[in-house]
Amino acid sequence: MKKSLIIANWKLNGNKYFINDYIKKLLYEINKNKINNVIIAPPLIYLQKIIEKLKNSNIKVCAQNVDINLFGAFTGEISVAMLKDIGVKYVLIGHSERRINHNENDEIIYKKFKIVKENNLIPILCIGETYNEKKNGKTKEVCYNQINYIIKKMGIKVLENCIIAYEPVWAIGKDISINYLEIQKIHKFIRSKIYLYDKKISKEIVIQYGGSVTDKNIKELLIQPDINGVLVGNSSLNFDIFLKIIKFSKNFQN
Ligand code: PGA
Repeated sequence: MKKSLIIANWKLNGNKYFINDYIKKLLYEINKNKINNVIIAPPLIYLQKIIEKLKNSNIKVCAQNVDINLFGAFTGEISVAMLKDIGVKYVLIGHSERRINHNENDEIIYKKFKIVKENNLIPILCIGETYNEKKNGKTKEVCYNQINYIIKKMGIKVLENCIIAYEPVWAIGKDISINYLEIQKIHKFIRSKIYLYDKKISKEIVIQYGGSVTDKNIKELLIQPDINGVLVGNSSLNFDIFLKIIKFSKNFQN
């Protein structure tokens, strides 16, 4: 069956009251509905607390960022060794908000990807074009280049046990109506490019979609053959909407 993974990216949102309430409700629903494909990406400061709360469940936890160094004089940073130490399994790499707001270019993203892989955590590599790139017909080229930068440096096998999230920048944080067929086409394109390097990886790799995902469009997204789940921002902050999303995704979990 097609794989499908649902990730809640809380970004810079939440506090301890929100988290206590949300995780309590999530645990109850996950157990009741036997859901096993959910990952939560809270702000870094709450990771450990959430990992403790989720330790007997099958909900996994993801960091939203990591430094390119393992330790040393890097004030304010968090290393992959530290994430591993507290039980984090996944790390978001290359989210457009980091590319844009923190000037993370392909070289920095590659370094983050590398350190995450070398330490056996799972990177979720976010890629996607801006509105202008889309307007100029550059979507495929931009997506391919963002992935290929890493393949060229590390070889195709590096995509084993890694996740790609196609997140068009123009669709993030909005409430736009989604052209499912266009998104499916890009996912198929990404898979077909990976296929040229390695057939097995192209079949197995999880390629998620992110950008304006809601309970209203989840069905149309998940029924597309090359979309393996979604990365959810705004809609993951509303527990009732997120619950509808994960309940529907159960039809596609392994
Ligand atoms: P959005 O964000 O669901 O609010 O569009 C998605 C993301 O940035 O991961």
